[in-house]
Amino acid sequence: MAIFPFLKSYEELQSELLCLGLDLPFSDDYSVLAEPLSFCYRNKKLTLPNRFVVQPMEGFDSGLNGEPTELGFRRYERFAGGGAGLIWFEATAVLPEARSNSQQFWLNEKSVDRFAALEEKTRSTAKKRFGHEIVSVLQLTHSGRYSKPVHGVRSPVIAQHSGVLDAAHQIPADYPLITDEELDRLQDAYVTAAKWAAKCGFDGVDIKSCHGYLLNELLGAYTRDGKYGGSFENRTRFLRETLIQIRDEVPTIFITSRLSVYDAVKYPWGFGVDRENYKKWDLTESKQLVAILREIGVPLLDITIGNPYFNPHFNRPYAKPIRGGIAYEEHPLIGVARFVNIVREIQQSQPDLPMVGAGTAWLRHLVPKVAAGIVKNGWASLFGQGRNSFAYPDSPYDILHQGEMNLKQVCLACSGCTDLMRAESSTGCVVRDRDYYRLP
Ligand SMILES: Cc1cc2nc3c(=O)[nH]c(=O)nc-3n(C[C@H](O)[C@H](O)[C@H](O)COP(=O)(O)O)c2cc1C
Repeated sequence: MAIFPFLKSYEELQSELLCLGLDLPFSDDYSVLAEPLSFCYRNKKLTLPNRFVVQPMEGFDSGLNGEPTELGFRRYERFAGGGAGLIWFEATAVLPEARSNSQQFWLNEKSVDRFAALEEKTRSTAKKRFGHEIVSVLQLTHSGRYSKPVHGVRSPVIAQHSGVLDAAHQIPADYPLITDEELDRLQDAYVTAAKWAAKCGFDGVDIKSCHGYLLNELLGAYTRDGKYGGSFENRTRFLRETLIQIRDEVPTIFITSRLSVYDAVKYPWGFGVDRENYKKWDLTESKQLVAILREIGVPLLDITIGNPYFNPHFNRPYAKPIRGGIAYEEHPLIGVARFVNIVREIQQSQPDLPMVGAGTAWLRHLVPKVAAGIVKNGWASLFGQGRNSFAYPDSPYDILHQGEMNLKQVCLACSGCTDLMRAESSTGCVVRDRDYYRLP
């Protein structure tokens, strides 16, 4: 098993990058991360108080009706109390059968009041501590191939058979596909959920299209027949039509998407890949889609890559795999640089559409200069953190006010949070928050 020691200093990081022929941006000027960023949606101006984003992180701690519980409130108070200006609330199912875990958030008529209270508590926590107004986005999801609404029982919903993923996830060749009529009805479920999200006070709603879940699978559904498969127009139909419907029917909430621009799954089953070699990205269609989303009115985008169930090192380069997972021979720094450089390519295709990426937790305390470099050099307008939001929610504050991250608080990229997820437990940091989260 390959072991890649953590890097201790920026000098070590720079020499490792040189050795591996990789590129990451650096800056000592952390003030760029403190700069507000404004954008307009319809006639409304929204202002992010700084460039930090808490990326969506599933906590799997909802109550019986999919509503946030005390543990969920605690998570979001910690996020808001850490100083990030944009809080992107975790994957929230639009239907009970769309959940990837029996305790995944689910927005419905019984849970809506608790979601409203959660949004308000998160907002007021940030206001009280920093005097700033956060921007909040709720991520809406259908877990598709990874649906598991009942504890321990997988109930996949698939858009196409995949020559790669079916075998990896034991899906038989005669397993039925979701029909076009079901997809039509599913669009309405997203619109209904967006109406509830607006009622709860969320500023934005994310039609999640990433990480191998249903809408991401549709983007790469080359082999599907009918109006949702085959051509670029058909594969992007669900996302486009749903965003347009929400834009037109729910004018008070802005529309966005967390978009996988490169699945790293072999063609014809993956989006954004080189057709000859899926280990290389081809962002032609991804850029085309981003341009279309912009025309539709999306005012900011969350860019991501990979499928955490199939090629987890693409989305979250790690020091240690999940229990029983694969320790890849690839240096985690290659994964970090790949994610950051792909986001750069997409951001630079639309320089004035604010975008955010992720994937840097493996850098540990060496995150700050890279975060500042990313924003300063226009590789992305915003800097997003996933695992560090669990491990070290105060890291935005510490970077802005102490000029560093504390080595004793940083994420160790140990995959403990994902181990909890795979064990169908509530997720958080098993190292830095171990009084609340322990592996079974
Ligand atoms: C436990 C766990 C839960 C996650 N939940 C979500 C989620 O709800 N929605 C989403 O888009 N990504 C989710 N992700 C992916 C992260 O947002 C992020 O893309 C990934 O961890 C890489 O960024 P990082 O290096 O900053 O952690 C999750 C990741 C982990 C480890």
